[in-house]
Amino acid sequence: MAAFITFEGPEGSGKTTVLQQVSERLAKEFEVLKTREPGGVPAAEQIREILLEGEAVDDRTEALLFAASRREHLVEKVLPALKAGKIVLCDRYIDSSLAYQGFARGIGVDEVRAINEFAINGLYPDLTIYLDITAETGRQRIESNARNMNRLDHESIAFHQRVIKGYKDLIAQEPNRFKVIDANQELETVVEATYSAIKEFLNKQ
Ligand code: TMP
Repeated sequence: MAAFITFEGPEGSGKTTVLQQVSERLAKEFEVLKTREPGGVPAAEQIREILLEGEAVDDRTEALLFAASRREHLVEKVLPALKAGKIVLCDRYIDSSLAYQGFARGIGVDEVRAINEFAINGLYPDLTIYLDITAETGRQRIESNARNMNRLDHESIAFHQRVIKGYKDLIAQEPNRFKVIDANQELETVVEATYSAIKEFLNKQ
């Protein structure tokens, strides 16, 4: 059974760890592909380097590069996996661009949606897990984990609050596609809630 499931959330939401653990559990029952954006295939990983490790670029250039990397990853990795009947779990997708570039950077959600719809050509996720946490708690978590901070992590708390506001608007517009999980809980509880939400979705297919 093919399904395209994306994971979204602000910095420090635990998204990558949760995705890893949920994917291990699902892999016992289904064929699963776990992947991430930006990156996932060589050309898109090169774009990731520019975006996350390089010098700051113009806001619209940034949005276009995220969209270009999304397209390449979609065509080269996601579509073949869906065609093969796999469950694709993807760390970030179009909603990240709408929240970060469209809303937080202030380019405009409609403008950023337009270039992304060109890139994804109709392939919206079937389900999007949103790991819900405040900007302050997220920041504390990444500081205490001492994980490598990327260029966008270094943005102000106000920027990350705008990211969250952007996500909340998107969730209000498409409440059926999003499943919101309280990420302030213990990791184990968050993993369990996420796994159950995905199973419930798959059982309805
Ligand atoms: P992550 O590996 O922590 O998820 O890092 C990816 C960073 O890139 C994160 O700060 C969010 C940002 N990002 C965007 O700004 N727009 C996008 O479209 C995507 C996919 C990620």
